[in-house]
Amino acid sequence: MSKRAFIKSYGCQMNVYDATRMADELARQGYEMADAAEGADLILLNTCHIREKAAEKVYSELGRLKGERALIGVAGCVAQAEGEEIIRRQPRVDFVVGPQAYHLLPELIAKAQRGEAPVETDLAEDKFAHLAAPQKRAITARGVTAFLTVQEGCDKFCAFCVVPYTRGGEVSRPVAAIFAEAERLVDAGVREITLLGQNVNAYRGPDGMGGTASLAALVERLAALPGLARLRFTTSHPNDMSADLIAAHRDEPKLMPYLHLPVQAGSDKVLKAMNRKHTAGQYRALIESIRAARPDIALSGDFIVGFPGESDADFEATMALTRDVGYASAYSFKYSPRPGTPAAGREDQVPEPVKAERLQRLQALLTEQQRAFNAGCVGRTLPVLIEKPGKKPGQWVGRSPYLQPVHIPAEAGQVGEIVEVAISSAQGNSLFGAPAGMRRDAA
Ligand code: 5AD
Ligand code: SF4
Repeated sequence: MSKRAFIKSYGCQMNVYDATRMADELARQGYEMADAAEGADLILLNTCHIREKAAEKVYSELGRLKGERALIGVAGCVAQAEGEEIIRRQPRVDFVVGPQAYHLLPELIAKAQRGEAPVETDLAEDKFAHLAAPQKRAITARGVTAFLTVQEGCDKFCAFCVVPYTRGGEVSRPVAAIFAEAERLVDAGVREITLLGQNVNAYRGPDGMGGTASLAALVERLAALPGLARLRFTTSHPNDMSADLIAAHRDEPKLMPYLHLPVQAGSDKVLKAMNRKHTAGQYRALIESIRAARPDIALSGDFIVGFPGESDADFEATMALTRDVGYASAYSFKYSPRPGTPAAGREDQVPEPVKAERLQRLQALLTEQQRAFNAGCVGRTLPVLIEKPGKKPGQWVGRSPYLQPVHIPAEAGQVGEIVEVAISSAQGNSLFGAPAGMRRDAA
């Protein structure tokens, strides 16, 4: 009987992507993937360290898994940040592997099986060059949309953020490796690829001709793949939103009109304290030029409320910026002090009830904006990439260019097709509609 492995991922899309790469490597080692921890031979928790809550989830999950007979490994950003401390706190853990060391998984598993408790948190290697490539069958099983990490790490050092410590400095993968991976995905039926990086628009990958390619150049190169219908990228820093990338949103029809561009706060004082290296005015001007290039672009963002020293007036500036920009969707968080980051040691921490009240107000505004954006789509005809069966029988769910889930009747087409859908209603975060004169996409 073959061995079974279960991987549970927390946190961002980069972790989701890493989990697929680990699964592919484990498949090469003879593991089949299980869809639950119970009864598995190997359990990997692929963890997130971004906020305290995310990090603490790991320990409660480990507590639950204590009784399993499986080998237990902790991967991801908590592994990187806490290393051996994890085994001290939860001795049931058999090995710890940081995000840059996944190519060493087979070795670490072997050591763990011998009763050693290896901890590997080296940041140096290009893990992707060593990890197994996915089998066509595995790609197809994962669906018609896929993530592809092109850049890892961050050199920005925002005062609140652990990423530069957990993922290291910025490293971009070579264009050729990314192109080969994209080709493999498309060959297995993938229609939409989301390029991932902690700071993806700072991508500067070796172009194979002695130079480096920008993200815009990479997008252009990938867009030439005939079977590929859609490209997206996430997540971006405003200061790396270069002119060529803005122009790509105007010129490249395969690049979807959706942009996640976190601003974090609307007050210049707070932005400065956060070490964001731009002002609210510069962000507004940037949004204006992006909208000039692609008027229908849907904007998304991240916000932190209650950063140390944030006054009522500072928070009102965040509300004002949010009102002015108008987001189609957004994520907002209470500031969470992270060990080792500059802001964690500040004495002017904002009291919890103040953070909670601000978060509630901001989220109410963002929810309202999302509702308005979705309602504005009713009556329009949008191309929808059909992804999978919907919740109800006889229904597919797919995505609009703006990343909204769209529910359509199953007769509308097949998974992987792009159909033009007349949007008839918006409910919650989803749109509903049916094809208006069905059309098969050209690709
Ligand atoms: N506290 C709260 N939110 C944070 N983020 C990053 N670090 C923290 C922190 N210490 C948020 C930012 C970032 C997103 C991924 O998580 O908004 O863009
Ligand atoms: Fe969490 Fe950041 Fe690590 Fe992603 S990169 S898993 S968000 S800590």
